[in-house]
Order: sequence, then C-alpha cells, then structure tokens
Amino acid sequence: MPQIGSSKMTKLDIVANAARMVAPGKGILAADESTGTIEKRLAGIDVPSTEANRRDYRQLLFTTPGAEAHISGVILFDETLRQTGSNGVGLAKLLWDKGILPGIKVDAGAKGLAGSPGEMVTEGLDGLRERLAEYVELGAAFTKWRAVITIGAGLPTQACLQANAHALARYAALSQEAGLVPIVEPEVLMDGDHDLERCAEVTEAALQLTFRELFNQKVLLEGMILKPNMVLAGKNCARQNSIEEVAARTVAVLGRQVPAAVPGIAFLSGGQSEQEATAHLNAMNQLRNNLGPSPWQLSFSYGRALQASALQAWRGRADNVEAAQAAFAHRAKMNGLARGGEYDATMEQEV
Ligand code: 13P
Repeated sequence: MPQIGSSKMTKLDIVANAARMVAPGKGILAADESTGTIEKRLAGIDVPSTEANRRDYRQLLFTTPGAEAHISGVILFDETLRQTGSNGVGLAKLLWDKGILPGIKVDAGAKGLAGSPGEMVTEGLDGLRERLAEYVELGAAFTKWRAVITIGAGLPTQACLQANAHALARYAALSQEAGLVPIVEPEVLMDGDHDLERCAEVTEAALQLTFRELFNQKVLLEGMILKPNMVLAGKNCARQNSIEEVAARTVAVLGRQVPAAVPGIAFLSGGQSEQEATAHLNAMNQLRNNLGPSPWQLSFSYGRALQASALQAWRGRADNVEAAQAAFAHRAKMNGLARGGEYDATMEQEV
C-alpha cells in the first residue's frame, strides 16, 4: 500500500484505509482542536497556548507506549501536521511509524448561516482541492469535516440541514478524488432541553439528507467513515436516559439511515464524560453481539472523552508526562474493550 506522502492512492487503497480506521478493538483520537479550542483546553490547566506547548502536549499523546493497540488513527490540526517532534521527526511520520494513520481537519469552521439566526454552516470548500493535494504530500491518509446542527425552538431548519449536508458531500467527494478517506461528521449538539426523541428525530433527518447528498455527489460509501453524535437528551433536559436507552435509540436511528456499505461509524463524544462515552459505546456493541451483527463497525473518534484525564494529569510539566500517558493509555484501552462490548465500569479502578 502507498505510504506517507504518496499521491498514488487508488479506490482500493481508500477502501482499505477506511477499514483500517475502524479495525476491531481500535478507534480514532480526535486531536484536531482549532487554535481557539486548544487555547481553552490548555487554559483549563493553566498552560499558555504557545506553539511549543501545543506540540509537547500532542507529542505526549502520540508517543504513548502501546497506544497503537487501540488507536488506529489521529485527526490533526493543520499546525500539527507540519510540526516536528523533539527528536526531529515529523509528527505525521512518527504516527505512520507506529502504524497509526494521520488525518487532517480540513473545514474552516462553522459560521453563522445567513437568513437563519442561531444556525451555522461549515465553510472551507473554496481552494479545498489544492489544500488536499498539499495534505497528501504532508502525509495525511484521511480528512475530517464537521457540520454543526442546533436543536431549539423551530430549529433546525431545512435550510440548515440541506446546506450542511451539501457541503459535507462536496468535501467528501473532493477528499476521495485526492485519495483520502473522508470522515463525514454531522453533529447534532447536546445543548438544550430537548428530550431523547427530539434528538432521534433530528439526527435521523440530518443523516438522511447527508446520505442523499453523498449519493448525489457520487461518494464511494465503502471508502468513508461516518462520525455522528449519539442520540441523547439535551444537557438541560430534566429526564436523562439510561445507558441502555441511549444505546438502543442510537442503533435504531443509525439502522434506518446508514447504508450497509459504510464500513464504520465512529462516534464523537460531544461533551459526555469519559466514562459515559465509553459505557454508551460498550452498550451499543453489546446490543450488536446480542441481536446479531450490524453491517458497520461501531467505533469511537473521541476528543474530550479520550483526553480529559490526560490533560489534567499533565498540567504542562515534563515530570507528569508519564502519568498523562498512563491516563491516555487507560482511556484508549477502555474504549478498545467497549468496541467488543467487553468493558465494565469496575475496570476503571485499574489505573
Ligand atoms: P469530541 O469527542 O470532544 O466531541 O470531539 C470530537 C470531534 O472531533 C469534534 O469534531
């Protein structure tokens, strides 16, 4: 298979890389926080967001001993794909050498949708073909684009769902043209007081439109990964659901809207705690074990739910690197077990 910086990826390579990203027992680390978001995360541990600190933190995660047992890919931000580790080796090459695929966030962020107060559309299509060609040279194997859908009074509008689905499909088609596996992320936010059923309804509508647009834009479903939200009641909803209710409703919605040709679904954590995100994934894979196989792998592509304890353990100090790596390795292992429905909350004491 072509390696780092190759521009000779065929359709077969794209399909093989997509399958590798959702290999059983493994999932994806989202470490592609934009400059503003990483600044917030680092401020939370009183660390200034300098280029060197951002590099040190991400290097710590990527060099965690044994991470490759449960991490198949890492989503990077533009700056990180161009950075060199303290040993002089590029961070993307370091990941390739560990057998982990580097990917790149290529959207330019969610901006206000004209004519639709309170809603957003993700930008970044202009010049994307040229940027993708450069990312291939820099060693990326896959891409990510995040659309944001808000639930509220009268929201989302059809205009918002349609505009975001169209952009996701345009992005996915361009990524595959460049030989890259697109992660297609339509995120229905947890913010609000809506209940589980409302989230199910909106998630279903967003997925249906997204797959219609992916079909229209001739995206090869076998060579993409879907990154959806789980179906959850809003953060401010008085009635929060059990782990089993969330798992059953999420799998039902996906079963109705995600074609069997898609190799894998890698959930975002979206503000769930580390343990909630693991328990939900575990329950879905247990359902899958009990009800018979689902067509796609049910995996993870977590940001906060893989990094929160590692970040707290690190606090910007070199003498905490080992403890931070142990915290990250533990989360990766717990989610790796959840991939097979083999996680139990009692395992949290191991660390
Ligand atoms: P969270 O898991 O923190 O939601 O981040 C995943 C991600 O990549 C959002 O785009």
